[in-house]
Amino acid sequence: MARINDNYLKLAAGYLFPEIGRRVGAYKEAHPDADIIRLGIGDVVLPLPEAVCEAMHTAVDELGSVGGFRGYGPEQGYDFLRTAIAEHDYGSRGVEVSPDEIFVSDGSKCDSANIQEIFAADAVVAIPDPVYPVYLDTNVMAGRTGELGDDGRYGGVVYLPCTDSTDFIAVPPDRPVDLAYLCFPNNPTGSTATVEMLAKWVEYARETGAILLFDAAYEAYITDDTIPHSIFEVPGAREVAIEFRSFSKNVGFTGTRCAYTVVPEQLRGKAGDGSDVDIRSLWNRRHTTKFNGASYVVQAGAAAAYTERGRAEVRERIDYYLDNARIIREGLDGIGLKVWGGINAPYVWSQTPDGLGSWEFFDRLLERAQVVGTPGSGFGSCGEGYFRLSAFGKREQIEEAVARIRTKLS
Ligand code: MLT
Repeated sequence: MARINDNYLKLAAGYLFPEIGRRVGAYKEAHPDADIIRLGIGDVVLPLPEAVCEAMHTAVDELGSVGGFRGYGPEQGYDFLRTAIAEHDYGSRGVEVSPDEIFVSDGSKCDSANIQEIFAADAVVAIPDPVYPVYLDTNVMAGRTGELGDDGRYGGVVYLPCTDSTDFIAVPPDRPVDLAYLCFPNNPTGSTATVEMLAKWVEYARETGAILLFDAAYEAYITDDTIPHSIFEVPGAREVAIEFRSFSKNVGFTGTRCAYTVVPEQLRGKAGDGSDVDIRSLWNRRHTTKFNGASYVVQAGAAAAYTERGRAEVRERIDYYLDNARIIREGLDGIGLKVWGGINAPYVWSQTPDGLGSWEFFDRLLERAQVVGTPGSGFGSCGEGYFRLSAFGKREQIEEAVARIRTKLS
C-alpha cells in the first residue's frame, strides 16, 4: 500500500470553514425551516462590477473568434494585467513594483499556501495567533512542525500571540525565524498596522535574515489614509518581503478566482551551500512548473477593475461592505460586547458574551438567532473567547442578523 504523508495526520481537524458548513448543515437538517443568515466565511454577495462583466464578455467573444483565439497564456499573467497592477496598486501610491515582479494566479489562498514550498523543510516559521488557518496548516502538511499539543499548538512553530492588550497586532519575536506570516488588514481580527509597526518588522527581518510573507488581501478596505496598503510602503521592505494580493474581496472574485503575488527582484534566500539565491527566480520556477496561468477571460475582467468605471464600481462595493461592518460593530457594541475591526476591514471581531467559549457561542448564536459566525478559536488558541462576524452579506441580512442578536442574545 502506498505510504501517505504522515504530516497530514497531525492536522487538528477538518479545515475550519468546511467544519462550520458541516455543523450548519446538521442544524439545517434538524430545522429545515430555519432562516439561517451566514456571516461565517468571508464570501462576497454583490454581483461583479458591470465594467468587469463587459470586459469578460468581450474576452469570451475574442476567444470564440478565429483571429482572437488564445491558448496557453504566460504563466505569470498577461502583460496588460501586470502593468495595470503595477501602475494602480503600487505606482499610484508612490511604491516601486515592476510588472515582472508580479505573478498572477488563481487565488491568494493558493499563493499563501504554496509559497512555503520554496523554503527549506526545516525553516522556522513564525505565525500569529489567531491567524488565517492556511498559513499554519500548509506548514504542518510540509512537515515543518511537531505534533499538536494539548494547548492546541504545534511543536516547532514560533507563535506570535495577538491579544486584546496588543490590539491583536503581531510584534516580532525575540528570536530569529526564517519566515514570518503577516496579514493586514487582519483576517480574522480586522486590526491594521501603522507604518511604524511594519517598519519594526522590516527592521527585524533585515537584522535576522527572515522573510516576511505579507498578506494584503483586504487592503482595499483601508479607509484611514495613514495606514499603509502594502509592506512595500516601508523603506527596505523590498529586500525582505513577499506580498499577496487578491481580487476576491474587492472586485468580488471569490468564485471567479484571480490574485497575484509580488516577489521583488532584490529578495534573496540562502542555499544549503551558503550561497545567495534569487527568490523571484525560484518562485518563477515553481509557478511555471505547477501553474498554467489564470484564464484570459478572468484576467481581462480583473484588468477592467482598474478602469475609471471599474474603480468606481469596486469602491461602491467596498463602501457597501464597510457600512455593513459598521452596522455589525454598532449592534454588538450596543449589547455590551467589546469589538475590534470593522473600520478598515470587512471583519468584526468581538468578545463572546458571558465568558462563553468560541464554539459554545457559535452554537448559541445558531440556535437562538440562526446566525452563523466563525469561532475565534478556529483561528488559534488566542482566539478562544472571541468570535468573528463577516460583513460580506446583503444589507437586509446584516440588519436582520443584528436585530436578532439584539433581541435573542441580550
Ligand atoms: C475567510 O472567511 O477567512 C476567508 O473568506 C477565507 C479565504 O479567503 O480563503
